[in-house]
Amino acid sequence: MTEPSYKPSRVVVVGTGAVGTTTAYTLLLRHRMAELVLIDVNHKKALGEALDMNHGLPFAAGVKLWAGGYEDCADADIIIVTAGASQKPGETRIDLLNRNVSIFKEIIQNITKYNQNGILLIATNPVDILSYVSWKISGWDHHRVIGSGTLLDSARFRYLIGSHKDINPRSIHGHIIGEHGDSELPVWSLANIAGTPIDFDDDERKEIFENTKNAAYEIIEAKGSTSYAIALALDRIVAAILRNESAVLSVSTLLQNTNGMSDVYLGVPSIVDRTGVRQILDLPLNPEEQSLFELSANKLKTEINKLNL
Ligand code: NAD
Ligand code: LAC
Repeated sequence: MTEPSYKPSRVVVVGTGAVGTTTAYTLLLRHRMAELVLIDVNHKKALGEALDMNHGLPFAAGVKLWAGGYEDCADADIIIVTAGASQKPGETRIDLLNRNVSIFKEIIQNITKYNQNGILLIATNPVDILSYVSWKISGWDHHRVIGSGTLLDSARFRYLIGSHKDINPRSIHGHIIGEHGDSELPVWSLANIAGTPIDFDDDERKEIFENTKNAAYEIIEAKGSTSYAIALALDRIVAAILRNESAVLSVSTLLQNTNGMSDVYLGVPSIVDRTGVRQILDLPLNPEEQSLFELSANKLKTEINKLNL
């Protein structure tokens, strides 16, 4: 009699800095997978992080966790990439582009040497362009190369609207779309609370959006990096994939005539399931939103065209 085959679910986190370790810890606490692998160019750092988390296992989930190498990507369901340079106070995400593209060329080639069927989940900035670069370098189907996109920005937006209204942010429906960065835009025309419009005046809208867009600058100025909310956003995407949820999340994905824009990765509400991004939702944007969406897409296309891919 042959043994039944069983493959434990495996998530790999590449980059064990602020984002990678907080994400790994969040995944661990939420029992998302059976196996969790940490990889970093600074292997000693990955070893220390793995040891520290392993010592908490008697109080947490039955997860097998270790600091590994790229060969451990072989059986991975999801490989999350958080490695690379991060913004210093005053720097934009686009300022990181050239440094992180060269790091990504190496990382994505290392991953795809061992894995051809997993899902790549990119968090490193500028996340939309690096997701596009990862898609190109990997040669994988675009449905399986996903960026965290504007999921974090949408969470910030919902939190700020909820705070103004004294309503739980989970009951606020609102999306930030476009670049995860300075050209992103709020879709006020579709934002609602239980289907009812949000009655903010222009000044309130402006203040909420500015605070959403500038949140990372404010946090980086105060504490050097952001990590908790992005970790929860990445955990949300991992859950949607591994549980085949068909959840609508504003992740970064390849546009193919999406609101008229193509051949660029941008954050748009998308259906996420075990196959990755199954489908982008059609967004009936008003003319002002449509024009800002096109500006955001064209800004990133200009940056992509400068790269030697
Ligand atoms: P960090 O400096 O704390 O950690 C980066 C880690 O990457 C370090 O441990 C470093 O050793 C590792 N690394 C560098 N080059 C590597 C390579 N070639 N291979 C493997 N590992 C390598 O930075 P952080 O604060 O964790 O931020 C990481 C990235 O995530 C940044 O680009 C940041 O802008 C981005 N970020 C994105 C979001 C989002 O919403 N998408 C949110 C927060 C941060
Ligand atoms: C964020 C990162 C820095 O927290 O992109 O928005």
